[in-house]
Amino acid sequence: MKMTTTYILGIETSCDETAAAVLDGDGRILANVVLSQLDDHRPYGGVVPEIAARSHLDHLDRLIAQAMDEAGIGFKDLAAIAATTGPGLIGGVMVGAVSAKAIALCHGLPFIAVNHLEGHALSPRLASVADGPIEFPYLLLLVSGGHCQLLAAEGVGRYRLYGRTIDDAVGEAFDKTAAMLGLGYPGGPAVEKAALEGDGSAFRFPRPMVGRDNCDFSFAGLKTAVRYAIEKLESANRQTTADAAASFQEAVADVLVDRCRRAIARFKTDFGVGPTLVVAGGVAANNRLRQALSGLTDSEGLHFLAPPMHLCTDNAAMIAWAGLERYRLGMTDPLDIKARPRWPLVELMDHANV
Ligand code: KG4
Ligand code: ZN
Repeated sequence: MKMTTTYILGIETSCDETAAAVLDGDGRILANVVLSQLDDHRPYGGVVPEIAARSHLDHLDRLIAQAMDEAGIGFKDLAAIAATTGPGLIGGVMVGAVSAKAIALCHGLPFIAVNHLEGHALSPRLASVADGPIEFPYLLLLVSGGHCQLLAAEGVGRYRLYGRTIDDAVGEAFDKTAAMLGLGYPGGPAVEKAALEGDGSAFRFPRPMVGRDNCDFSFAGLKTAVRYAIEKLESANRQTTADAAASFQEAVADVLVDRCRRAIARFKTDFGVGPTLVVAGGVAANNRLRQALSGLTDSEGLHFLAPPMHLCTDNAAMIAWAGLERYRLGMTDPLDIKARPRWPLVELMDHANV
């Protein structure tokens, strides 16, 4: 076995998970600790930014210490430290970024400012590291609570945007649908669970954007259709709720498959080969959507890759991995780099090592 002396610490605090992870230089995950703030936010039916920031502040130090302990290393053993510096809820992002910078400053370590979306975008390479990471370029469907995009990932920091949502993100649509159906928070897993007992053809919900000659998404109309359908019901019961959840999920599956089919055609034009389709982000944890997308790639004779669930939802292993990829390319950042609430992935191109 190859001996390695390089270790990287990753920190993630951009939304409602406080997370720290340690990878070795070959991308093996030595520790990956995630503390979910779900219980803090549940009474409000969504993430409250101020509560999130305070909770990150309360727990991050302990989680970093735990990750370092589990990895069996000290700060002096690190080669670099990576933290999410955006996009996300700015208070939380600042807690993680400032902590990471302080450790970097104290121990004279290089600091790597990681774009949270790039963390998700590169997570399939971390997931496949044991067999040699999946190679660029690949087609990426990034589906999370705040984002819904199709991109060609050409390299670290190099992304070509094919399409994005013109209104709600798909995770947001799951969360709002769950709230309307009284399924609680967070919505995605609740809708998926309820849908298991439902009939996906019970309601005829619209498939927004299907057939359009681009790769964009829209979910606002679907969400409204769910609301009207619920309002029309004389009485909602467990079965009608399950049917609505399943019918909503089928509509989302059809939309994602259609949009990905378009993007595959565009990728073939751009790169002359069919892509591996990779799905990342919290919504990629949904089994029905994974099944629909792998059905699409099977029918097109292409490969499909979805990271395991714990690397799909927010975590620090993907941030450490993105940091490691950048570190290997010599892409480190100054300590005065700012935390950013908005930071589109395509903006990384300006600084890409091309
Ligand atoms: O990537 P993520 O953990 O955080 C963001 O960066 O947004 O994604 C969270 C989103 C939430 O909207 C959540 O409802 C959704 O991912 N999600 C799911 C599932 N698990 C999480 N959506 C559908 N099915 C799931 N099983
Ligand atoms: Zn995320």
